[in-house]
Amino acid sequence: MIKVEREAATVLVTIDRPEAMNALDVATLTELRDRLRELAADESARAVILTGAGEKAFVAGADIKYMSGLDVEQAKEWGALGHEAGRLLETMPKPTIAAINGFALGGGCELALACDIRYAATSAKLGQPEVNLGIIPGWGGTQRLARVCGLGVAKELIFTGRIVGADEALRIGLVNAVQDPVLDKAREVATLLASKSPIALRLMKELANRALGGDHAENLAAEGETFGEIFSSEDAKEGMTAFVEKREPRFSGR
Ligand code: CAA
Repeated sequence: MIKVEREAATVLVTIDRPEAMNALDVATLTELRDRLRELAADESARAVILTGAGEKAFVAGADIKYMSGLDVEQAKEWGALGHEAGRLLETMPKPTIAAINGFALGGGCELALACDIRYAATSAKLGQPEVNLGIIPGWGGTQRLARVCGLGVAKELIFTGRIVGADEALRIGLVNAVQDPVLDKAREVATLLASKSPIALRLMKELANRALGGDHAENLAAEGETFGEIFSSEDAKEGMTAFVEKREPRFSGR
């Protein structure tokens, strides 16, 4: 099951399937996709944290018992469902943070990679072990791992299926920080982000998501255009006025 808990403008989404180390079956992944869709459209949700229930696992991957019975068409649908969830984390107009407690393997690592920011507990173990099952990463791992860690690191990890601990994950840039309890760190940053202008965050996310693809000159031009447009927002006026008046800004999201 998927738990959604709100604390002011931040939302904690917890994947809770303890009998399978939070591995995702169709029901759980569909529920996750549906909750993420709702949160993407919900303006009162300003930052979203994704985590796994319990101490042992963030998500131990796609459910292998379920996958072992799939034919080609069913496997394509299963891949598409995971991609939908990843795409929502990557593109929803607000920051998404993965709080990785324990195993984040296969599809679990891929969901974390789709988030904007990743924090890990010292117990975290991350990797793409699909090759050991005779398959490939299917929810974005062949693309997003390279975007986050560079192509050389990504190829080694997906080809070998090697699992890395928190320290190595930090060193290779797979996670942004390592801290126990990881949820405290994620909550602290989510609360900070929820206090900033949601318009600025949405636009920065959109632009940053273009950084590693498309045409560089066009992307820079889009930044220039957007930089100009944001000056029509109340938040821009408030932010700059507050600086001049030597006070804290209060962003309204308009
Ligand atoms: N799918 C289904 N069940 C899983 C699972 C998974 N991905 N991961 C763990 N479980 C289940 C185990 O089968 C076990 O259930 P039973 O007691 O009913 O057999 C229970 O969770 C506890 O797991 P273990 O007894 O194996 O616990 P452990 O501490 O010895 O090992 C582990 C933990 C290293 C995470 C190990 O369970 C493991 O290797 N899991 C599979 C990891 C994996 O390969 N993930 C990638 C899946 S493929 C994928 O995700 C494709 C994609 O890109 C979309």
